[in-house]
Amino acid sequence: MKNNIIAELVEVSKYYGTGTGRMVALDCVDLSLAKGEAVVLVGPSGSGKSTLLHLLGCIDKQDKGRVIIDGVDTSAKSLEELASLRLDKIGFVFQSFNLIPVLTAYENVEIPLLFKGLGNSFVKDRVNEVLDSVGLYDRKHHYPRQMSGGQQQRVAIARAIVGNPSLILADEPTANLDSRTGGDILDLLLHLNKNEERSVFVASHDSVVLERIKKVVRILDGKISID
Ligand SMILES: Nc1ncnc2c1ncn2[C@@H]1O[C@H](COP(=O)(O)OP(=O)(O)OP(=O)(O)O)[C@@H](O)[C@H]1O
Ligand SMILES: [Mg+2]
Repeated sequence: MKNNIIAELVEVSKYYGTGTGRMVALDCVDLSLAKGEAVVLVGPSGSGKSTLLHLLGCIDKQDKGRVIIDGVDTSAKSLEELASLRLDKIGFVFQSFNLIPVLTAYENVEIPLLFKGLGNSFVKDRVNEVLDSVGLYDRKHHYPRQMSGGQQQRVAIARAIVGNPSLILADEPTANLDSRTGGDILDLLLHLNKNEERSVFVASHDSVVLERIKKVVRILDGKISID
């Protein structure tokens, strides 16, 4: 077993639609991410970035090949087992935040810990600590609609990292933000990578991200190449 690898795709293909309308979103992709590594996934709109991240994040299932997370082959796992694997190991920052609008920042961040069944006082301390680390402690009782895009993105990151996942997947985390706010978000992700040795895999075509993450994986029409 390669135990320095946190996530691996082996000959993974993903199709959308059926029959003649079928399109190939990922075409026999091989990729591995080492523990503690930061990698940026670059490619034009529609090239398959979100699809690839969703498979790594066990949010969607491949049609062919294998997805291996921290040595565990996910293909044979039930939905419940996948949910628990996700909860344990993976933090996902969605392209469109996916915050729950009727919950406050605090409540959005708290969700993964409630699913883990952790005790009240631990949950409270950890949620406050993470909200503080993303600079939103004083906004914790605000609802998503009362926050700016950058603040919502930080709530989304807080929710992704609150359970201490070893793999953080972020889908265009700086898109739709001004360059300063985008830079702050990137600082946050790279801090987690450098200081806490989390693997960070970011889909982006933002030049700021490309300047700061040295390892680049390119994707075009569902096929990848590594610089
Ligand atoms: N649920 C779906 N049903 C059908 N086709 C889909 C679906 N999701 C994605 N696709 C198609 O698969 C291809 C890859 O989409 P994907 O969202 O992975 O691209 P992307 O690189 O993330 O693009 P963007 O930069 O615009 O976010 C696109 O051609 C898209 O239209
Ligand atoms: Mg996308």
